[in-house]
Order: sequence, then C-alpha cells, then structure tokens
Amino acid sequence: MLVLYNFDEIIDRRDTGSLKWHYSDDTIPLWVADMDFKAAQPILDTIEQVAQHGVLGYTKPTAALYESIIEWHGSRYDLRLDKQNILFSPGVVPSLALMMNIFTEVGAAVLVNDPIYTPFMTKVEQNSRKLVTSALKEVEGQYHLDLADIEAKIVEHEVKLYLLCNPHNPGGRVWTRDELEALLSICKKHNVAIVSDEIHQDLTLSGHTFTPFLTLAEGYAHKVVSLTSMTKTFNIAGIKGSMIFAKDEALIKKISQQQHLNDEYELNLFAYTVMQSAYEEGGEWLEQAFAYIETNIDLTLRFLEEHLPDIKVMRPEASYLIWLDCSAYAQDDQTLYDTLRDAEVELSAGIKYGAEGHLKMRLNVACPKALLIEGLNRIHAAFSDVVKES
Ligand SMILES: Cc1ncc(COP(=O)(O)O)c(C=O)c1O
Repeated sequence: MLVLYNFDEIIDRRDTGSLKWHYSDDTIPLWVADMDFKAAQPILDTIEQVAQHGVLGYTKPTAALYESIIEWHGSRYDLRLDKQNILFSPGVVPSLALMMNIFTEVGAAVLVNDPIYTPFMTKVEQNSRKLVTSALKEVEGQYHLDLADIEAKIVEHEVKLYLLCNPHNPGGRVWTRDELEALLSICKKHNVAIVSDEIHQDLTLSGHTFTPFLTLAEGYAHKVVSLTSMTKTFNIAGIKGSMIFAKDEALIKKISQQQHLNDEYELNLFAYTVMQSAYEEGGEWLEQAFAYIETNIDLTLRFLEEHLPDIKVMRPEASYLIWLDCSAYAQDDQTLYDTLRDAEVELSAGIKYGAEGHLKMRLNVACPKALLIEGLNRIHAAFSDVVKES
C-alpha cells in the first residue's frame, strides 16, 4: 500500500533530548545533518512490533538482514557483496577511528581533504596519527580533488592511509568514477590504503551517479574499506548502527579481530531490525523525502540568489547540506556564526571543517518548508544589518 508522507508537518522536537533542537529560545536549527521529518512508516511499525513482542534479549544479525543489505547495494549501485564482506559497527565515526589501527601505526601520516566532516580530522589526531590535509580545488562552483597535491603530500609525508568522503560532506560533491579511478591509481602507486566513508551514498541527487569505491578496488581489495549506514539515509541517526564492507578475506578478519578487542562488533536489537526494514521497505519514503528535499534546495538557491546574491553557493550533488561562502558578510568566523545566532538561526560554522571552511557556513535544508523559509528570512535579516566587506 502506497503511503503518502507529509513532509510539511512541523513536529515539535524540543525537550526530546534532540541534539539539533537544544535551545531554550526560539532558534531555528539548520545545522547538524539530521532531518526534521518522521521516519518511514515501515520503520516505525517494526519498532512497534518489536516492542509488542516484548522480549528484548541478545540478538544476532539474521540471514534476512544480510540479504536486505546485499540486495540494496547490489540493485542500486552494482556493489556485489556476500555476507562475508559485511561487518557491523555502532557508527561510521567509530569505524573511522578503528581504521587507524587497521592500516597504520601510531605516528603514521593520514591524509584527508580540506574541508572535511570534522571527525575525519579529530579521529586522526586523537589516535596519535599525523594529520595531513589536501585542500579541495574550487572550479566553477564545485570542489575537485587536487590530484597533484594529493600525490605530493603522500610522497612528502609518507602517507599510509587516505580517508575519503564519498559523497563529500560538506561540499556535496559526488566524486565521478574517473576522479575515483585517478585517486585509486595514485594510492596504489604509493601503497596507500583507502577508507571511503559513503554514509551519504543514498542521498545522491538526481542527475548524479554515486560510485562505491569498492567497485573499483579489484586487485587492491586488501587496502580498501568502505563505511556506510542506514542512519543518514532514513533519518534514524538516534538508532545508531552502521556497516563496514571489505572484499579481502584477510582484511575482513583483521577488522573483525580488532572489533572484538573492545567487543564492538554488534548492534542492538532495534538497530538490526530497523536496518532490515529500512532496506526492504524504506525506498518509498526515501524517494518522497528526496523529492521534497530537492524542492527545498531549489527554493533555497532561488531565495539566496534573489535576497543575498553576495553569498556564493555550492549546489550540492548529494545530501541536503548547502555550502555557503559568506565572506562578503564577515571578516572572522566567530562573528559570522554569532551574527546568525543573534538572529535566532543556527548553521554549522564552516571553519569546523578545516581551514578551507573559513567564512563559510553549512546550511541544512531538510526540514518542513515553513521552518526553512522562516530560517532563510532570519539569515536575510541578519546579513541585511551587516556592512558588506569590500
Ligand atoms: C560523512 C559523515 N560520516 C559519518 C557521519 C556520522 O556517522 P555515525 O553517526 O554513523 O557515526 C556523518 C554525519 O553527519 C557524516 O556526514
């Protein structure tokens, strides 16, 4: 039966422990990558069924769960997986941290792009590895990998591991097959392992094609891991749970052993059951959510063009996050952030994503239109009071 979802519904999330809605005032949150939409009905039904059953004992992944993962990735992305290629992990960020011990020793150099989702940098440093960054190049309003710089940094710092964000957060790029192949060939040449965070894979917008890194890794599978999750796709980040994919038997064994050291290889009952129902029955919700989000992206781009043409906007190819260059409106990052906070709207400060995020902001448009429009009006009002730079 077709369910028609109402993404215009405003659901009060205050006082629910929501990370996003943490305010005591009237602020509109357009920051963390979390949508203000109810989850897909099959997911909610599954949670209810589990609760109704009433016994919440130790749980292991079922054959049907593996099948749902294999089918989703095979049919959508031609990523051919077997059960042996799949491990579970409490989150993609914990897996990023785990990968330090799989591919590197303490003190080794790990390369990430700049800008990048913050934990890419913090996990490297917290695990006592050396953080090396390669700035993305902006060409005609989109980020590109600077392959020459990447290779130079790999050689200069003897990089052992490259953490790739595919699709990219915060820039919203969906790296093309050609770009990924070029990157792979550099990493192969210098024996650098690649961990590809693909949590935004299912949020690829129309007109773009997501390429799972593992589909390119034949002959180099012992050095490639991809990390993904149903949580971002289906807006169920509070459920926690993710997957690690690898194609090399010895590598999978090594990762599994590393996970067992801290007993971090299993998910909770709700995560397993929700993951399966999401992959089996969530497609309809995802399609409708994304049709709604695409209209929010268009609305936002039109609004900014009309009212704030001095903001340089990067049109996303994936996700509901829009990367804004606000350098016309501030000279320092704290003032930029505070100007918006004072207007009771919160965006993510670009500087959190690395030096390339200087005077940038990341705007999350995955919310009901009425909230988004009010948020955009507040951004407009905040910047209207600012005397523009240069
Ligand atoms: C690129 C990327 N990786 C990982 C995460 C978080 O993953 P998890 O909640 O599974 O740790 C996010 C959340 O926004 C993200 O954007």
